[in-house]
Parts: sequence; structure tokens; C-alpha cells
Amino acid sequence: MELFEAIGRRHSYRGGFTDSAVGRGDLQAIVEAGLKAPSGKNEQTTRFVIVDDEAVLAAIRAMHPSNKAMQQCRAMIACIVDAEPEAIYEGYSFQVEDCAAAVENMLLAVTALGYATVWVDGWLRVKGNAAAIGGLLAVPKAKVIRIVLPIGVPAEKYPQPKKKPFTERAYFNKYSAG
Ligand SMILES: Cc1cc2nc3c(=O)[nH]c(=O)nc-3n(C[C@H](O)[C@H](O)[C@H](O)COP(=O)(O)O)c2cc1C
Repeated sequence: MELFEAIGRRHSYRGGFTDSAVGRGDLQAIVEAGLKAPSGKNEQTTRFVIVDDEAVLAAIRAMHPSNKAMQQCRAMIACIVDAEPEAIYEGYSFQVEDCAAAVENMLLAVTALGYATVWVDGWLRVKGNAAAIGGLLAVPKAKVIRIVLPIGVPAEKYPQPKKKPFTERAYFNKYSAG
């Protein structure tokens, strides 16, 4: 799939998945896209755990009853950052940005390969969910799962939210409040 087509087709998918597996070759290609993302000072801080073990997936699926994609995913990618990221430039850490850049690359790769996913982030931060999944995946205590991507072949049509037009959010040369 051509890049701009993948960008145009990408959307968050919270529907059900078919029984089709996500092959390891595709999972590796998706994560390789994440590895190629930019990162602050090229520190490449994000780590990834790719989950395709049915027993582990079953345990994770049971944890998020309101999100069908989480309940039915055929694979999952957990994106991991330091719990207390080190400042690497003038007192700033870029680990969250590093992780977000990698995730966007992976969302596009997921779309290009015909799968669907959703950026799950907020849910991880409450009720100890990140730590619970981290325990299942042997994530060290000094690290935290910041984003998970439940992946599969979409079983239903899921609405793609409209985006505001260019003129409402982008300007040439000068910010325009109008
Ligand atoms: C930082 C961030 C956090 C997000 N957290 C969640 C989340 O916890 N659960 C979820 O279902 N979607 C989450 N999303 C997906 C957004 O809800 C989604 O991108 C937004 O509604 C726009 O829809 P679209 O991705 O289909 O364009 C998150 C997206 C971002 C960028």
C-alpha cells in the first residue's frame, strides 16, 4: 500500500477480529517499522514485547471488557519505556515522544498490511493495568508499558472519525486565530 493511502486509511479500530492469526513475519515487519522511527538523540529508547502466545493473550483479553479489539486481538505489541526516564538534553527526556513516533510508524504498517489496531494508552494508566500486563510479560520493575496495540484482521466495518480541514488547523507563515 502506498504511504499516503495508508495514512488516509489508518483509523483506530475497537471492533472484533476474525480468527485469522497475525503471522510472525508480519509482526516483525510492523515492529521493524517502529524501530525505524526517529527518537531524541537517536537514543531508540522504546522496547517492544510482541505477544502471540494464546495463553498470555487470553489473560490480557480478559482484562479489558469494554474494548472488543482488546478482547479478541490475535496479537499484541506492548511498547515499553523507563518508569523514570532519564533527562538527556537540557533536563528533558524524550522517551514518551520516542514511543509515540514508533507507535505511529507501527499503526501505518498495521494498516498497510491489512490489519487493524488501536492505540491503547489511557486504560493502561488506571487500576494497575500496565503493571498487571507488565507482570505477564516479565517487564522489569524499572520499566512501564506505555502503549499497547491489539492487532488482528478486522471482522467489521468501524467508523473512521472525520478530521478537521487543513484551513482550521494549519497556516502558512503565521499562526491565524481566525
Ligand atoms: C496519546 C493517545 C492516547 C490514546 N489512548 C487511547 C485509549 O486508551 N483507548 C482507545 O481506545 N483509544 C486511544 N487512543 C486513540 C484515539 O482515541 C484516536 O486516535 C482518536 O479518537 C482519533 O481517532 P482515529 O485514530 O480513528 O483517527 C489514543 C490516541 C492517542 C494519540
